[in-house]
Amino acid sequence: MAKSWVNSAERIGADLHLELSGSGGRRAALIDALRAAVRGGRLAPGTRLPPYRSLAEDLGVARNTVADAYAELVAEGWLTARQGSGTRVAERARPLRAQPMRHAVKGPVTAPPRARAPRHDLRQGTPDASAFPRAAWLASYRRALQQAPDEVFGPGDPAGRVELREALTEYLARVRGVRTAPDRIVICSGFAHGLRLLFGQGGGGPLRGPLAVESYGLGFHRELLRTAGVRTVPLPVDEHGACVEELTRERAVLLTPAHQFPTGGPLHAERRTAVVDWARAQGGVVLEDDYDGEFRYDRKPVGALQGLDPERVILLGSVSKSLSPALRLGWMVLPERYVEGVLTTKGEREAWASVLDQLSLADLIVSGSYDRHVRRMRQRYRSRRDRLVAALAARAPHIEVTGVAAGLHAVLRLPPGTERTALKAAAWQGVALDGLADFRHPEAATADQDGLVVGYATPSEAAFAAALEALCEVLPPDGSAGVPAAG
Ligand SMILES: Cc1ncc(COP(=O)(O)O)c(C=O)c1O
Repeated sequence: MAKSWVNSAERIGADLHLELSGSGGRRAALIDALRAAVRGGRLAPGTRLPPYRSLAEDLGVARNTVADAYAELVAEGWLTARQGSGTRVAERARPLRAQPMRHAVKGPVTAPPRARAPRHDLRQGTPDASAFPRAAWLASYRRALQQAPDEVFGPGDPAGRVELREALTEYLARVRGVRTAPDRIVICSGFAHGLRLLFGQGGGGPLRGPLAVESYGLGFHRELLRTAGVRTVPLPVDEHGACVEELTRERAVLLTPAHQFPTGGPLHAERRTAVVDWARAQGGVVLEDDYDGEFRYDRKPVGALQGLDPERVILLGSVSKSLSPALRLGWMVLPERYVEGVLTTKGEREAWASVLDQLSLADLIVSGSYDRHVRRMRQRYRSRRDRLVAALAARAPHIEVTGVAAGLHAVLRLPPGTERTALKAAAWQGVALDGLADFRHPEAATADQDGLVVGYATPSEAAFAAALEALCEVLPPDGSAGVPAAG
């Protein structure tokens, strides 16, 4: 297929040659041709494009083909459409490329060429890196170093330093209602490492698959399990968390009870008891991913599921949300019967979590600095979430924020079929975001939900207002995915 069109100067203010070629259909060919014309500078910013009908006639294509192509390019940010002034080439000079989405196994959203870092980073997964408590960490590190006995500088115990396990026993009981003892805790380098220790590589750990998982979750974790030889079976999620009543023959389930990741519902009280009963009846185990349990804004956090039955629930936690994912420090709170197996998988010596960092974290907790930092960050993230909700109520009231007021991210529910174009528009405007589809289990039975996952903790305090403004600019308008008004 090849079709060309030379446009007259008075129509759009410049001669334009569009080559419709390729095998992907006319709409795709027209989109490619228009993108190429903007990219190559043949269509300058501000240039008005011809109405649908005349361009359709010139090209010998259907009017809807032109309308669809314009709509797509408006959504991607190449064109703008305003009532009364038609469709024009967007004023923004250059496309920006989206950063690859972290943890997404489907691959990045490919945006227009010419790489540049996103101007506004709203990807989930990171706390405000500018808020790391450097002074408090340094003070704890110094104290830990000064007080450390010489044996600290020899090979480490794979269970982790007892000072940290004792500090965590007290902290987790006080803050999360966890019932444990230092000899039931194994230090690891974060949640992901904990999963590896439980399932091993090719079956080395104390647990075996298949593992029931929530139908929305981190693809990175599913991939890690897959490479460990563990089949994951999706469990539907709704506003009350995972539908645990649908658990069948599996003997283990991985849940995010405090705040379903990423959809945001806490596990309903009845489901909490039901899943523990299921584990008892089944001789199974619940893996509790307590990734952001300290960050609840509308009420006191619900205690950890582990408190309901320490012999049936394994709690996994880390400092990745509270302090930084760069520390690679986490913990596993284990039923007695799994402790030996996990330690065997871990090996004879501590080979993962720096012993000095462990001592430093123990000091941070015991000195009260950790509590103070978490309190400060809770206030900061709560205020950001409030600002996000208020901005949406004012600027995009048709877009709902789902889930409870908690954590470091929120899900913005979008009209069906608009997620991809919203992500493209965001990438074009330099706003890095994740879409709900990236978290969906590939075998999930429920219908796709369209939504944006906004990591409101990621920008620094100084950058947040601009990021929020940019986000509001790229949201799809009410009732459509950005269909241009011109024609
Ligand atoms: C759902 C979920 N689980 C767990 C974690 C923590 O992972 P890790 O401790 O391996 O950094 C994260 C990210 O911080 C997460 O988003």
